[in-house]
Amino acid sequence: MLVALVVLSAVLILRRRWDPIHSIPTIGYSAPVLSYYSAFKFLRNARQMVEEGYARHKVFKIAAWDRWMVYVSGPEMNDELRRLPDDVASIEEAIQEEMYSEYSFGAREYDLTILAIHGLLVRDLSGVIPTVVDEVVLVLEELFPQEFDWVELTNLPSFMSNAVARIINRVFIGAPVCRETGYLTIVTTYVTDVIKAKVILDLLPNILKPLVGNVLPWRARATRHLKHYLGETIAHHQASLNEDCNDCKEKPNDFLMRIVKGAQDLEGSMETILINILMANFTAVHTSSATATATLFQLASQPESIAALREDILSAIRAEGWTRGSVNSMWKLDSFLKETLRWQGLSIAGLRRKVLKTATFSDGTVVPDGVHIYAAPAATHHDSTLYEDADTFKPFRFSDKREQVGQSTKHQFVNTSPEYLVFGHGKHACPGRFFAAIVIKIFISNLLLKYDVKMGGDGSLPENVMIGASAIMSPNAKVLFRRRQVVDA
Ligand code: HEM
Repeated sequence: MLVALVVLSAVLILRRRWDPIHSIPTIGYSAPVLSYYSAFKFLRNARQMVEEGYARHKVFKIAAWDRWMVYVSGPEMNDELRRLPDDVASIEEAIQEEMYSEYSFGAREYDLTILAIHGLLVRDLSGVIPTVVDEVVLVLEELFPQEFDWVELTNLPSFMSNAVARIINRVFIGAPVCRETGYLTIVTTYVTDVIKAKVILDLLPNILKPLVGNVLPWRARATRHLKHYLGETIAHHQASLNEDCNDCKEKPNDFLMRIVKGAQDLEGSMETILINILMANFTAVHTSSATATATLFQLASQPESIAALREDILSAIRAEGWTRGSVNSMWKLDSFLKETLRWQGLSIAGLRRKVLKTATFSDGTVVPDGVHIYAAPAATHHDSTLYEDADTFKPFRFSDKREQVGQSTKHQFVNTSPEYLVFGHGKHACPGRFFAAIVIKIFISNLLLKYDVKMGGDGSLPENVMIGASAIMSPNAKVLFRRRQVVDA
């Protein structure tokens, strides 16, 4: 017995010595049992732990329940991380392993979303602007208070999730379905179903995951409900793909059409189309509504910026109405959004990748295959060597920089860089960011022209609750809206 224990300890010690992961410095504990304590601490102190690592090391690791999370620090290392080829460090494998996307969204070869985004929401983005403006105006009229007195909107994050989902889905699948409460509930709550699936699958040994993953009820339930809302529209889109379709007055050229066409080319089924609509919503809605909510929190706690923003918005639309050019010329609003996401630090872990082949960084750090590796956006965004007065919110930090000669595009909200990681950076940087920026700017600018906004209580910015690397925005924040008597035009 004693001999067996000695041999086992020796094997464990030698394995630790040989495994290059153990030469990466640890924040918290690395010893087998104590590392669980660090994983527990990460749940409430992720931001502080990552900031500590960022300040002390170029590469460091923190224990999670079932694996090591390796982080890199600073723009040079961020750049090295994003340059790693897909067969060395894979975003898809990272998402599959962290979110079990194979079970929640099905086989990867049927992923048509990125192609549809590039087609309609990058190349043809100008064409969707009138639709976005139309839906934003309706959302403000139908969902926001019409009183000329201050009215509190309760649970703003949830309210905004529905409002933003409706605007985005006007472009994804069209009206009137984009306004149906049942439809919006499916696309906004699927994120919770994906988390439920993750919690269950995390508990299972690998061998059982496919068996259970394939019979979890939520994906089938969501697509069944989506079919109820979209079945007819999809059938019409499919019919209009046939050249000789008599009933089709004109062929739709919308986001759904691109998914329907892509599914036909792949010989995919109705399920393929529905899953892609679910996936497009999964990537688009939560991120965009969290950004819009963060911006409203910031505006409400800093109403002194509003007059300058209104002036910025008005001078743009007076010149040419609601066009891509006019929205792009709202530099102050653009800066306010960019600074909000920089300063609020909602994203603790970014550029997530799973290492597939041993990766060696320029400082000599070797990260073995199987490890999940990240950049640290919030820590990068508060790095005082990169941002002057990094801990101060300066609403027009970026628009002031854009005024300097040769700097007019570099500091735009949608520009990614190793210093600004809100949308990732490099080959896998968010393809939906141009659309997201347009939607949020059109929404915020229309809102500011029609409403005053302020924080209730002591007027301070609501605090987010952090659970691990995820930020949960305060449902209890008191944000007040008042319809303006005179609307500038
Ligand atoms: C303000 C809103 C948004 C934020 C902050 C955001 C952020 C991000 C981030 C951080 C990534 C990962 C990049 C990386 O790891 O390198 C990403 C990827 C992605 N985003 Fe967004 N996103 C937003 C809106 C959208 C919208 C509206 C869409 C769809 C219309 C979208 C579609 C995607 C897709 C498809 C990917 C995966 C790209 C790939 O795997 O190559 N996002 N986004």
